[in-house]
Amino acid sequence: MSRKILVLDTTLRDGEQVPGAKLNLHEKIELAHQLKALNVDIIEAGFAASSQGDFNSIKEIASQIGNGSIMITALARAVKSDIDAVYQSIKMAQNPLIHIVLGTSEVHVNKKFNKTMEEVMEMGVDAVKYAKTLMPYVQYSTEDASRSEFEYLWKTIEAVVKAGATMINIPDTVGYAVPEEFGELIGKLNYRLKNLNDKVILSVHCHNDTGLATANTLAAIKNGADKIECTINGLGERAGNAALEEVVMAMKLRSAYYDAHTDINTKEICRTSRLVSNLTGLDIQVNKAITGDNAFAHSSGIHQDGLLKDRAVYEVIAPEDVGVEKMDIILTARSGRHAFRNAAEKLGYRYQSETDFEALFNQFLELADAKKEVYDYDVYYLLQRHNSSRADGGHGSAGAELDLYELVSFQVISNDIFPTATIKLKKGKETFKHSAVGDGPIDALYTAIKDITGLDVDLKEYKISSMSRGKEALGRVSIRICHDEKIYTARAMDTDVIKASALALINGLNAIILEKVN
Ligand code: KIV
Ligand code: ZN
Repeated sequence: MSRKILVLDTTLRDGEQVPGAKLNLHEKIELAHQLKALNVDIIEAGFAASSQGDFNSIKEIASQIGNGSIMITALARAVKSDIDAVYQSIKMAQNPLIHIVLGTSEVHVNKKFNKTMEEVMEMGVDAVKYAKTLMPYVQYSTEDASRSEFEYLWKTIEAVVKAGATMINIPDTVGYAVPEEFGELIGKLNYRLKNLNDKVILSVHCHNDTGLATANTLAAIKNGADKIECTINGLGERAGNAALEEVVMAMKLRSAYYDAHTDINTKEICRTSRLVSNLTGLDIQVNKAITGDNAFAHSSGIHQDGLLKDRAVYEVIAPEDVGVEKMDIILTARSGRHAFRNAAEKLGYRYQSETDFEALFNQFLELADAKKEVYDYDVYYLLQRHNSSRADGGHGSAGAELDLYELVSFQVISNDIFPTATIKLKKGKETFKHSAVGDGPIDALYTAIKDITGLDVDLKEYKISSMSRGKEALGRVSIRICHDEKIYTARAMDTDVIKASALALINGLNAIILEKVN
């Protein structure tokens, strides 16, 4: 019988370690809901001891999403205070799991901890024993396992299993492993572990420093690993982690070879990938396996001819299997509520109330007026925008109570003498108007906005990308601004990229104001 491989998603922990990918509470909850729809077995929701914000979001995810069979975990170093923080943040989940990490390689033991091998092993054993007094399920990660001396690695595993660890995770922390060698390592560990205690789950966690994370993960599965740790779009430290969508689809495609399967609902892959890209502002490379824009696009005449004769000639994965669907109804401003509601529900709109739907429908009408034809990817991004404004209370109406800035109107003139911008903003009951010149239209626009708010921010990064296709595509502007030595990331979308630019800066400035209030 085909083996079931457990999938732990660590987009919210390892993935969130990517600079600029920090998500707020509402974004993390939205992603956790989507990971549940994707049917991952375990969500690693964060690193509880790292900040109060991370602790709160793990707690919220454990309460809101941690029901049913899904496990919720969070990371702890092998110290009591970290383990306590994990316990407090996940205890309300129905199936909580404490995840402890401690290095086993010489460089970690000697250089990072400045301890002896025995002392570090004892720290790990004590940590597991303590965690077991709090919860039945404990995962132990032997950090930098692929560069560790084998017998010491095994002795550590043996000791922590005897102390009560129920999952052993073998990380290739720095992406040093190669598939044949890593597969062999997992095979040897699996053999010894099954003899020691066949209830303990053997897991792997691979990094992509030389582009081998997917290959190493698959080699581990072939050699007996029961669980894999991945992220959506391969996000993660440095070059990232094994991409969930790649490992899962390779296993599905070659299920006879691996004689193993996951329970991932693959039809949710594309939606999850787009959500992660949209929330983090990190684009997916066009030729990315499984989820890139070109992953199912065939351009050469020979290929198109072959496909028309039989899709199997050049297609091994059906786009529908990962949720890439063809839009059969193209919406226009004349499409009624019924057609729009159908399209929105198909893309995951969760109905809240008639008022909520009407607000969304009005946004659709505005977009349809601007674009003439609205495709599924437009509806998708409309939903994203709507969900985030719903999650933060809608900066439109709640902005007044919270004293946040709102865009009323703007005019930007681009020329090579005096690029000029005039802007009108509202804050509570007050309105402000101001004009400024700049080195270019965006500089003029940003100077005018900054002058009104009086906030001294430094623009570190400004990026425009097209979020859908066609000449009236939705443009997404992502910015990074620095204020009081802290970096804030903000985004906005609109068919008018100048307006999206203004909204992105206003969102960033509002984030600074909100942080000061809280
Ligand atoms: O890469 C790593 O070693 C980790 C561990 C915490 C599993 O992320
Ligand atoms: Zn990692």
